[in-house]
Amino acid sequence: MKRTTTLLLAAAGGALLWRRARRSADDPDGGVLDADEARALYDRLAPVYDGVAGAYALLGARRLHNRAVGALRLRPGDTAVSLGCGTGPNLGPLARAVGPTGRVVGVDLSAGMLAQARDRVRRLGLDNVELVRADVREFAFPEGLDGVLAVFALEMVPDYDAVVARAVAALRPGGRIAVSGLRRPDGWPEWAVRLGELVNRPFGVSRAYESFRPWEAVRRHAREVAYREAVLGAVYLSVGEAPSPDGPPRQHREPYA
Ligand SMILES: C[S@@+](CC[C@H](N)C(=O)[O-])C[C@H]1O[C@@H](n2cnc3c(N)ncnc32)[C@H](O)[C@@H]1O
Repeated sequence: MKRTTTLLLAAAGGALLWRRARRSADDPDGGVLDADEARALYDRLAPVYDGVAGAYALLGARRLHNRAVGALRLRPGDTAVSLGCGTGPNLGPLARAVGPTGRVVGVDLSAGMLAQARDRVRRLGLDNVELVRADVREFAFPEGLDGVLAVFALEMVPDYDAVVARAVAALRPGGRIAVSGLRRPDGWPEWAVRLGELVNRPFGVSRAYESFRPWEAVRRHAREVAYREAVLGAVYLSVGEAPSPDGPPRQHREPYA
């Protein structure tokens, strides 16, 4: 019953979202959105975003989110940043992981998405969460961070490499970054890739982003400790650790919990 309600809500939200996205198609040829376009798009999507995201949760997005948060291995008292936090589905799990003595900072450029996140924070009574309206490309990371999370957030940011580099530089030695999102799946027939694009188009996704590979930025700037794909290779999760002076000298991978 709950599943049916979620699907119905998601379908209604999706239809609305489609109409809004089509109306706001400033980029009819599907180009890369600049910050103002991304902000405007997500401001419009904000009221229906969670309803539509419910369908993605059924497809396993929630599991992926939880894995990403778990992979950060946060402890009570830690400080973590959530980049492109949106309406804040990860803020609760992050806040619980760092406990009342820890701190979570959610960053997003859309005031509309942050308003939804603020409601969520209030509803869940999360006293250790702070929300910042900023472009992740300009965000001043606090020093000595224990974890940075970016879930479905960097695949539309043209300077993702510089963002990952700055995030890793802000981590304490051994601190972790977990990045996940959509990727162009290998080996899919063209029609299936097009269909995937169509389904995600209301979120601003287009073929213009196919060359964006944030997981490679994690590999470049951190010691990759895990990489995993899901949904037949259309989604990835990449986890990196900030180098520690006496850490292991070469890359190693670990199984997921
Ligand atoms: C697809 S939503 C994902 C939200 C959330 N992480 C989740 O998993 O539901 C992408 C979010 O990234 C934000 N965003 C996009 N580009 C950004 C940028 N350059 N700086 C900050 N936030 C950005 C959007 O406003 C939006 O809230």
